[in-house]
Amino acid sequence: MIKEKLEEIKVEAEKNLGMAESLDQLNEIRVAVLGKKGALTEVLKSMKSVAPEDRPKVGQLVNDVRKELEEKLENVKEELEKKALEAKLKAEVIDVTLPAKHAKVGHKHPNTVALEEVEKIFTGLGYEVVEGPEVEFDYYNFEALNIPDGHPAKDEQDTFYITDSILLRTQTSGAQVHEMEKGKLPIRMIAPGRVYRSDDVDATHSPVFHQIEGLVIDKNVTFADLKGTLVEFAKTLFGEDTKVKFRPHHFPFTEPSAEMDVSCFKCGGKGCRFCKNEGWIEILGCGMVHPHVLEMSNIDPNEYVGFAFGVGLERIALLKYEIDDMRLMYENDTRFIEQF
Ligand code: DAH
Repeated sequence: MIKEKLEEIKVEAEKNLGMAESLDQLNEIRVAVLGKKGALTEVLKSMKSVAPEDRPKVGQLVNDVRKELEEKLENVKEELEKKALEAKLKAEVIDVTLPAKHAKVGHKHPNTVALEEVEKIFTGLGYEVVEGPEVEFDYYNFEALNIPDGHPAKDEQDTFYITDSILLRTQTSGAQVHEMEKGKLPIRMIAPGRVYRSDDVDATHSPVFHQIEGLVIDKNVTFADLKGTLVEFAKTLFGEDTKVKFRPHHFPFTEPSAEMDVSCFKCGGKGCRFCKNEGWIEILGCGMVHPHVLEMSNIDPNEYVGFAFGVGLERIALLKYEIDDMRLMYENDTRFIEQF
């Protein structure tokens, strides 16, 4: 009777094992047959009805079936685990022949590249790099630079006013005044930054662009120092063969004033499309700081003298990298920016 029951359990379990598709199902089968309340345990419980002399034999029988089923369970388990691993490996297969994915990294803007070069030149000459505010008082942008109300130079620059006395700076020259007001002499500084003018956008204009201001104040500074410094600057930036020319000019805050041209580094001065056939390219304004400007910032012009200069950063970048439309500089198209 028990023997038949055991046979029945065994056949049933083997049938179920044959159909098991997952480790979960396998576990269910284990619990149903070998568990505390499983079929084999039930059989052991019914031993009471077996004659005592037959009990060892029946017990042995139950153990044989248990052992056999445990072995089978273990085999099926191994089989299922193997299958699961194979499926996982198949799903995670890496095709090493696929092209690699390139992570796009940023690139320095040509303005940044040019600025870093200019900063390197001047810090190498002992200059400090400072910054002035972009939102500025009229006083710093105009008045303290010897451009009083009604001065024609004030109307020449189309200024964005915020109030009557506050504006977006039209030039970095105000940074000179901030530096002089600190009262620490001598001064050797450059001040790069954004400037604003109410201009329409075209190939050579933008309402926002960048300038680099330079200022040196010390005793016994002469125009020869200005020339020596700016010639060195031009040659380092545009090449050792670069020739330099100073043309008299006028700026309200310097006297005398000049504009500096460099020989066209494209044609060497012969004349080409790049320099509009002139052989020379204008790159900056400069001059000896006007005594009145020194006085307004509490520097005694009888003791101290200085020179100043102002460079357009875009102008340098456009020339150096032969970019013929300024608008490209502000579109942030990486295909453009990555070239420099
Ligand atoms: N601020 C002038 C401009 O925006 C440039 C300039 C000229 C700056 C002469 C200077 C200078 O410091 O000495 O056109």
